[in-house]
Amino acid sequence: MNCKLMLVAACFAGLSGAPFAQETQSGDAARGFKAYKHHLCDTCHGSVGQGGERGAGPKIAPAVWPYPAFAQQVRKPRQLMIPYSEKTLAENELADIHAYLRTIKTPPAAKDVPLLKDF
Ligand code: HEC
Repeated sequence: MNCKLMLVAACFAGLSGAPFAQETQSGDAARGFKAYKHHLCDTCHGSVGQGGERGAGPKIAPAVWPYPAFAQQVRKPRQLMIPYSEKTLAENELADIHAYLRTIKTPPAAKDVPLLKDF
């Protein structure tokens, strides 16, 4: 590994506060769905992470951010999103939410939906 790459890796690990080993979290998707609603993520990001109305929150699924970046955003949002500390949202709940979002599939293209072909 060259020096630049190592620097980027160290920087990323430092920013997220989590080692790379945690990049794949093993949360429970069913519990995550409940936590996603309970913590009101859906009010801004939509019930399947499709993005909120009038730009309330961006689309966050099905292209889910890797866990360290995801956790960093939820703990210390970079712009307008409200921050969730570990007091209000435990680390295991956050992993569950991440697992739930990862179960969301890409919807078919409009051209592949028979009912939409005539539009
Ligand atoms: C009050 C509205 C609101 C709530 C509630 C909210 N978010 Fe956000 N979220 C935002 C906005 C606005 C952004 C854009 C970046 C920013 O403002 O930091 C964002 C960005 C994100 C991003 C990064 C996606 C991107 O492209 O910027 C993730 C991941 C995310 N939110 C996850 C969550 C999760 C998980 C929850 C619940 C624990 C949650 N959000 C609750 C408004 C919200």
